[in-house]
Amino acid sequence: MLAALEALLAAARLEIPQAGDREAAEALRVRYLGRKGELQALLRGMGSVPAPERPAAGAAVNAARDEIEALIREAIARGERAALERELRGAPLDVTLPGRRLAPRGRRHPVSQAQDDIVEIFARMGYEVAEGPEVELDYYNFEALNMPAGHPARDMQDTFYVEAKGREGIAPGNPPLLRTHTSPVQVRSMLARQPPLRICSPGRVYRRDDDPTHSPMFHQVELLCVDRGISFAHLQGTLEAFIQAFFGKGFQTRFRPSYFPFVEPGAEVDITCTLCGGKGCRTCKGTGFLEVLGAGMVHPKVLAAVGYDPEELSGFAFGAGIDRLAMLRSGVDDLRLFFENDLRFLETA
Ligand code: FA5
Repeated sequence: MLAALEALLAAARLEIPQAGDREAAEALRVRYLGRKGELQALLRGMGSVPAPERPAAGAAVNAARDEIEALIREAIARGERAALERELRGAPLDVTLPGRRLAPRGRRHPVSQAQDDIVEIFARMGYEVAEGPEVELDYYNFEALNMPAGHPARDMQDTFYVEAKGREGIAPGNPPLLRTHTSPVQVRSMLARQPPLRICSPGRVYRRDDDPTHSPMFHQVELLCVDRGISFAHLQGTLEAFIQAFFGKGFQTRFRPSYFPFVEPGAEVDITCTLCGGKGCRTCKGTGFLEVLGAGMVHPKVLAAVGYDPEELSGFAFGAGIDRLAMLRSGVDDLRLFFENDLRFLETA
């Protein structure tokens, strides 16, 4: 038995190192070590070994198996190295070839990005998003906001009226129009819900305007907070927090008294012109500041028009130009560029 084992081992030592590749080495594993292999055949003859010699014979078989396994592992590793070398030699790698171009990836338009960021900032402060129609009725856009027909403030927002010929249900004196601001959402929200109310309403608005800081279609975001005990200080604090969150620390805001029929008192808020750093340029018309929003305390007449008691409740509101905010943040000096479909706005840097 031991002699047969020696002979088997000698054959393996000769044969296995000559295996040319992985497959040949695997075939030898099966032949020597498999269930029907040569070592197993020798083991079957163990019965004929006299009992006292069996432990030594068993140890010799185990040692032979270990050696053959090691030879096969080496042969496999050699085969794999050889295969890799063949592959490298066969297909030379040209590291100077240009890489494959990745499919172009876009990014959100600066105005959409600004809108998303604004909504997120106010969502963190507890404001819910509310939406309103872009084709609005005169009542919500003007009348309920303390701007009755003939009110001079209507001239501040040159309006696009919508042709309503032949349409039923259009009450005389309440024509449809493209909303000139997001403030009608204040009215719709107050009519639909009970206070306390905290809403944030972004969307498109339309005016007969066209110059570097005015576009006929632009975006506003309306903020409305109505509750007991709301004061102008809440408005100022909310605005400061917003400007810091949107532009970063160190931005200067400027409150100027202003008139909007649906607030009392009213203010316009400017921030440092980011394009010239406050020195004065074409965009800020030399003032160093750009107006970004109108704000104020909700007028008691507006609260009364929606059935809220102005003695009990108060609120603040503001309407900001999203495009203006986006323009200031991204250093674009002409608002109209945002709407010319220039693909560079959507390309990643
Ligand atoms: C209003 O639209 C008021 N509804 C704002 C308001 C809301 C006041 C709630 C009080 C309470 P104004 O017309 O000033 O206000 O417009 C608000 C902002 O929209 C401006 O500060 C400016 O940033 C932006 N804006 C106005 N017109 C244009 C335009 N044509 N193109 C781009 N942005 C504009």
